[in-house]
Amino acid sequence: MERLKGKAIFITGAAAGIGRAAALSAAQSGARCAIVDIRPEGAEETAAEIQAAGGEAIAIPADVRRSEQVQAAIARTVASYGRLDGAVNNAGVSGTLAFSAEMAESDWEHTLAVNLSGVFRCMKYELQQMMAQEGGGAIVNTASAAGLIGLPRAVAYSASKHGVIGITRTAALEYARRGIRINAVCPGFVETAMVDIWEELRPGMLEGVRRFNPMRRLGQPDEVAAAIVWLLSDEASFVNGHTLSVDGGVTAQ
Ligand SMILES: NC(=O)c1ccc[n+]([C@@H]2O[C@H](COP(=O)([O-])OP(=O)(O)OC[C@H]3O[C@@H](n4cnc5c(N)ncnc54)[C@H](O)[C@@H]3O)[C@@H](O)[C@H]2O)c1
Repeated sequence: MERLKGKAIFITGAAAGIGRAAALSAAQSGARCAIVDIRPEGAEETAAEIQAAGGEAIAIPADVRRSEQVQAAIARTVASYGRLDGAVNNAGVSGTLAFSAEMAESDWEHTLAVNLSGVFRCMKYELQQMMAQEGGGAIVNTASAAGLIGLPRAVAYSASKHGVIGITRTAALEYARRGIRINAVCPGFVETAMVDIWEELRPGMLEGVRRFNPMRRLGQPDEVAAAIVWLLSDEASFVNGHTLSVDGGVTAQ
């Protein structure tokens, strides 16, 4: 099904994990994709995979902590595709694991810089482009189940994701009348490099995560990608300011 036929979609953190799955799925749905990531080789790999399958993609290296790089990445997307129909602000880091009293301030600052300020920064310039063109657009921010409930040993991560939900709701209200929809997805634990890092830091953590989940498993990147693609598409035309949980029901407990 060509849910995103011809739409130009900008996706950060698209070299791996959920962002990569979202890019592949968006391209399969007919989108032209800007694959943005701090890791240029990973971005190239995702773009090459899309092209090999007959889709359209460009790889753009950028660090979401750097305003000039974010602005240049959006400008390059618009130069290539003529407009920006959708954006997925997904780049993120796990941070380290420590109780709040032991968390290094440098960890706090790094996690917030990527996960929260990075989303704000991308959204700011995406909105400017979407307002300058006919037809508005749709933005999906990747928050987390940890944006809805506390996650012990991850105060910076949880704070950053609560913040992403605040950004999403506020901007959704601000731009609703300009034809721009802004939503968030809240994945539970999903099998990507990020949870591998957590398992390394705290061996056995993932077994506990599995047992605590009503579905007794972790999610797959494709399962989050499907929600992202739907939120980007016109099928979600009256969905705005929403946080869509994709977590097997873990936050329903
Ligand atoms: N995996 C999970 O369990 C889970 C759960 C909830 C939310 N999330 C969120 O999903 C998003 C994607 O995570 P993932 O699990 O796919 O992890 P991942 O580590 O597989 O992918 C993250 C990507 O972001 C990129 N990135 C990191 N810092 C960057 C920066 N400063 N600028 C640009 N790109 C940068 C990385 O290079 C990587 O390609 C993150 O926001 C994460 O917090 C993940």
